[in-house]
Amino acid sequence: MSQSSLSPAVSSRIPIITIDGPSGAGKGTLSAMLAEAYQMNFLDSGAIYRVLSVAATHHQIAFDDEEGLVPLASGLDVSFETFDTQSRIILEGEDVTDDIRTEEVGAGASKVAVIPRVREALLRRQRGFAQTPGLVADGRDMGTVVFQDADAKIFLTASAEARAQRRYEQLKDKGHDVKLSRLLLDIQARDERDQNRSAAPLRPAKDALIIDSSELSIVQVFEKAKEYIDTKLF
Ligand code: DC
Repeated sequence: MSQSSLSPAVSSRIPIITIDGPSGAGKGTLSAMLAEAYQMNFLDSGAIYRVLSVAATHHQIAFDDEEGLVPLASGLDVSFETFDTQSRIILEGEDVTDDIRTEEVGAGASKVAVIPRVREALLRRQRGFAQTPGLVADGRDMGTVVFQDADAKIFLTASAEARAQRRYEQLKDKGHDVKLSRLLLDIQARDERDQNRSAAPLRPAKDALIIDSSELSIVQVFEKAKEYIDTKLF
């Protein structure tokens, strides 16, 4: 997509699309599809919180130790690199791309993310992803805090049961022995923490399009999102 194809309202600056919502709603898949469709950069902000969770464990800093976590977040030595078209996440020289995807790291990320000064320390790093030709930003507070003046905002949600079921199938496909009831409890605990924290709680931006994916395929979600974004960008 060329810059010149954008409307005058947005052509003078970098177009930004935000995708927020609870864990397991399909934000990552949708964001990757949109970044590909619009040929834009992609920010997986959850990955940054996950990397911080791993770094805290490496440095033996507890998930509620604000004085330890804030400097760790400000100076987080992380880079996002592409090797042979594969994107890799490097923390302090070590490839942590796969390590950050466990349930434990996700729970740790959700715990460190409740601390306002930790969130503040990660703001500039996230905003740095807004580069030409544009950005699709995936997270919890992309449209409400980090990119408040984004061109198109989507809040993608789904029932906790539908999200637990999807996660269950993904993990089973990978050969993991998991219990659906356990996954549902984990998702509910994470929702509770993400929605009820005082700093940047998970909620839709006032100007977001809300899509409930409980009964939709990813292709249907993508089509709805694209139709809406096209009206905002062009
Ligand atoms: O999207 P995810 O599951 O990878 O995110 C992991 C945790 O990080 C999530 O439970 C809460 C936190 N997070 C956040 O507070 N703000 C964001 N923009 C992204 C993630």
